[in-house]
Amino acid sequence: MPNRVVIGSQWGDEGKAKIVDFLTKYADIIVRFQGGANAGHTVKADDREFIFHLIPSGIMHPNKVCVIGNGVVFDPKQAILEIKDLVSKGISVENRILIAENAHVVLPWHIACDKLKEAKAGKSAIGTTGRGIGPCYSDKVNRHGVRVGDLLSEQELRARIEDIATFRNEEFKKMFDAEPIDPEPVIKEYLDLGKQLKAYICDTVSYLFEGLKNKKQIIFEGAQGTILDVDHGTYPFVTSSNTVAGYASCGSGVGPTTIDQVIGVVKAYTTRVGNGPFPTELSDETGDKLREIGGEYGATTGRPRRCGWFDAPVVRKAAAVNGLTHLAITKLDVLDTFKEIKICTSYKLEGKDLLFFPNRVEQVSLCEPVYETVPGWECSTTNCRSWSDLPPNAQKYLTRISELADVKIGIISIGAKRDESIIMDIGE
Ligand code: IMP
Repeated sequence: MPNRVVIGSQWGDEGKAKIVDFLTKYADIIVRFQGGANAGHTVKADDREFIFHLIPSGIMHPNKVCVIGNGVVFDPKQAILEIKDLVSKGISVENRILIAENAHVVLPWHIACDKLKEAKAGKSAIGTTGRGIGPCYSDKVNRHGVRVGDLLSEQELRARIEDIATFRNEEFKKMFDAEPIDPEPVIKEYLDLGKQLKAYICDTVSYLFEGLKNKKQIIFEGAQGTILDVDHGTYPFVTSSNTVAGYASCGSGVGPTTIDQVIGVVKAYTTRVGNGPFPTELSDETGDKLREIGGEYGATTGRPRRCGWFDAPVVRKAAAVNGLTHLAITKLDVLDTFKEIKICTSYKLEGKDLLFFPNRVEQVSLCEPVYETVPGWECSTTNCRSWSDLPPNAQKYLTRISELADVKIGIISIGAKRDESIIMDIGE
């Protein structure tokens, strides 16, 4: 049984949660390894819809264990909300959620700083989710952070929070002319949150190590997408973590040799939420049509997503930096009514052909998409359950995407529900 990383191969919102939920039946443990409550993972099961921001999507399956790894920036208030919601809907969480004691904690300073920075940046704002992600990661690497384990010790928590308060309150005053945050009530509140979460907090690294020794199968659930990666994305219009498959290892504390498969989730078209260049963006009726049929509104912020055609240079880059072994192509059904569909096969940049998404944001802004137009299939694919059920033009479209990315197709998704899926080859 392979250990799999499921990763976003575009700008996030590719439908990873559905794929993770679907694959969870073959797994024992599901691990989130980066990002935080900026993610919005939507799962539809038994006619109920759940949106998770922190808890791994595998929680919907009884008897599977969900781990929030050390690479996540953890908002305890959000976690408690999600746990209470699950319990109120009759989903058992007992002994099923483990939170890494060495994950970093999102604090009120981080959320306030995220919003203050964005407001001050005006037109050059990143368009963050406002969940405090960037400031929390920056305190982590600046060694000012609070870790989940600190929530269990008044002495540790006080020392860490007093350090952050000094540093951040000074910044609030000097940079933003904003009110400081009093550390005392925060210490009290976060100690209480620690008490509520105590049963879930542990050494997840040793748990995973033992699990692997006992041949447990793990799914590493990515958040956001490759082109939002802090190293490989459209910097500075990116999130603050490494979203690529390699980080599954660092962000959960398992060796890279643990990973057998990397499934790159790609929408059959492209979307982006937040600011920054997007070469195949359609600011016209076709873009609006994709948004309306695809329900392309952010699960975390409700913002309308920017929409465009499938972009092969993006997915080629994702194939390279993640070492994709399979594609999971989602939302094919959104294209069901289009008469013609375009595929961006390469870019023109300063008169030259470019097959690969560039690193430098100034270059991305200058890239002109080169399109090929293919006929649509103009019928519903939602009831298809095998490759041969798909209309020939849909088969040709998918084959072309796979050819351009040079990655084989593992799964095709033709609807939000679990069974609205076609399994090609995932080597169970
Ligand atoms: P942050 O992660 O909140 O700092 O936001 C940085 C950028 O990443 C913004 O463009 C956000 O819109 C984008 N972003 C963060 N999380 C997600 C996600 O889960 N899906 C899509 N975009 C995201």
